Amino acid sequence: MSQLADKTALITGASTGIGLATAQRFIAEGARVYLTGRRKRLLDAAARELGERAIAVQSDVSDLADLDRLFGRIAADENRLDILFANAGGGEADRPLDTLSPEVFDRTFGINVRGTVFTVQKALPLLNAGGSIVLTGSSSARRGTAGFGVYSATKAAIRQFGRVWAAELAPRGLRVNTLVPGPTDTPGLRGLAANPAQAGAFVDALASSTPLRRAADPAEIANAVLFLASDQSSFITGSELFVDGGEVQVYP
Ligand SMILES: NC(=O)c1ccc[n+]([C@@H]2O[C@H](COP(=O)([O-])OP(=O)(O)OC[C@H]3O[C@@H](n4cnc5c(N)ncnc54)[C@H](OP(=O)(O)O)[C@@H]3O)[C@@H](O)[C@H]2O)c1
Repeated sequence: MSQLADKTALITGASTGIGLATAQRFIAEGARVYLTGRRKRLLDAAARELGERAIAVQSDVSDLADLDRLFGRIAADENRLDILFANAGGGEADRPLDTLSPEVFDRTFGINVRGTVFTVQKALPLLNAGGSIVLTGSSSARRGTAGFGVYSATKAAIRQFGRVWAAELAPRGLRVNTLVPGPTDTPGLRGLAANPAQAGAFVDALASSTPLRRAADPAEIANAVLFLASDQSSFITGSELFVDGGEVQVYP
């Protein structure tokens, strides 16, 4: 039986990568999915590929007016949400402390932290009791990788918000969990390579730090999001689910 029949989900950052793979999985399980992203061309292409149960709303999570427009659209459609996957985020070629710029700091915290916080806050009036909120963390939040200070700090913040919100939102019947991907072969990860020709080697180098010696396919991450989003995880809240090829547990 379909695991998400009659459910409505919002996935932020679903035009590529982990978000898109999760939208595909959710729709295959019977859900209606709102998806967001900033680049309209990619977002529209994703929605076309996903079919009629996908609804694209171009928006930037770091822009509060865009978030109001997004949730206004869902309300105007007379829909409520059962699942929120607050996934939009990413990093830039990060810098060691001595050359870190305020612009990279503000942009990364603006999307990954501020964007996630106000996405979840503004979704609350629309979330049904029994609903599930899934945040996207990162295995990098558990490691001290030189040059990854800003990105890994944003994801450490997500991990902590997840715990606090699990406590705050349990009385409303909402569960909150943080999904923790390890290296996952997405356009976002490849974009961190010094140039496109080096993207494969860059992903391979990161993959070599996992016991499984490979990067995840985004569909493997989507399987875990489905678990956290569905009633299969009904007694799980405040947790982090590591989908990292063993990276953090085996080589802490
Ligand atoms: N890939 C990995 O190895 C890995 C590992 C750990 C954690 N993660 C996390 O997983 C999440 C997804 O990453 P990914 O690898 O799938 O990257 P991706 O392929 O770059 O996908 C990111 C998606 O988010 C959208 N997005 C980015 N900034 C946004 C914003 N401000 N507002 C709305 N949408 C935005 C992108 O579209 P636009 O750019 O058009 O907006 C795109 O749809 C991120 O939170 C990332 O930090 C990834």
